[in-house]
Amino acid sequence: MTINSINTLDTPSLLLDMAVLEKNLDEISQIAKYNQINWRPHIKTHKSIKITKMQLERGACGITVAKLEEAEMMAKAGVRDILIAYPLSSPQKLERLISLAKQAEITIAIDSIAQAKLVNQAFSNTSPLTVWIKVNSGLNRCGVEVEEVKELATEMKQLPNLHLNGIFTHAGHSYAATSLEQIKDIAHSEAKVVLESAKICEQAGFTILHRSIGSTPTFKYGAEINGITEIRPGNAAFYDMCQVGLGVATPSQCALTILASIVSVKKDRLILDTGSKALSLDQGAHGNKNVIGFGKVLNHPEITIARLSEEHAIATVSEETTLSLTDKVQIIPNHACVVANLFDEYHLHRNGTIIDTWSVDARGKMK
Ligand SMILES: Cc1ncc(COP(=O)(O)O)c(C=O)c1O
Repeated sequence: MTINSINTLDTPSLLLDMAVLEKNLDEISQIAKYNQINWRPHIKTHKSIKITKMQLERGACGITVAKLEEAEMMAKAGVRDILIAYPLSSPQKLERLISLAKQAEITIAIDSIAQAKLVNQAFSNTSPLTVWIKVNSGLNRCGVEVEEVKELATEMKQLPNLHLNGIFTHAGHSYAATSLEQIKDIAHSEAKVVLESAKICEQAGFTILHRSIGSTPTFKYGAEINGITEIRPGNAAFYDMCQVGLGVATPSQCALTILASIVSVKKDRLILDTGSKALSLDQGAHGNKNVIGFGKVLNHPEITIARLSEEHAIATVSEETTLSLTDKVQIIPNHACVVANLFDEYHLHRNGTIIDTWSVDARGKMK
């Protein structure tokens, strides 16, 4: 074992394969460039300033975040253009937003007339805030229906402290798709609601420069649609077993793994030191039914992680295994974004040789 081998690390540890990460980022960047559209990665996947910089170096126009705290951290790190894809409305959040908007180009999501009025009121003594309307394309989470856009846009004409210049949607329901055909259909309907909403807003007198779509399952297809100006994939930086189950990625495209140790060997099972605190109990959001167990053990198809408790992964063994006590394995997680949030740092490696350690900077930034 070389001195810098990943196998010298204590477990559980979070490993990031640099070559795979670079390839994934290059691929998204090329898709955006080829289609002459913007790429605004969602950074909730990696929560890392250094990976954000890799994305900006490859041509990302800015970033997407969900949390104000993530935006504050990234603005402090020098990121200039930040979409907070979340309908902020509480007095505490709006107060922080006013101060953040003086430090970077900030855009937030609007998803109701009531919220638009609160934000307009809060920005009455400062420069107008750029906002994008969030429309619902089928996930049924936040977002106005296309039929409601006209009323919202008409109301927003009366709100001088909001500068509306974009429309976006998030098609998270693509995670429940059962075929690539269905994913393509969702990408088309995602684009359709955004383009229709943009037209309605333009008819109301707004100039809509940004028409933004693109989850990891859908972005490649949505990027090709005429009129779309931006994609926002997050998970595609790392990929994971949910994406493999959907047919969107292969295990060799998964950049993130968890290094685990065998801590006990029983007649019919192996126990690893990666419980729910390392792998999470996530088996796929938004109705995803494509994963088996709680992560894929690399190079050991005979092992299935069948159950998790907090500190233990209980794996069933379908045939003879070479694994024994203290052996280490790498596990591709079901959902890379939640797993990154469970660790303090990434151990970066190339071909199993550790090259650096990077912090998961925005880990736990929930406010
Ligand atoms: C608004 C928004 N944009 C983009 C994304 C990125 O989606 P994905 O992780 O599928 O790439 C998300 C994910 O939750 C999101 O909520």
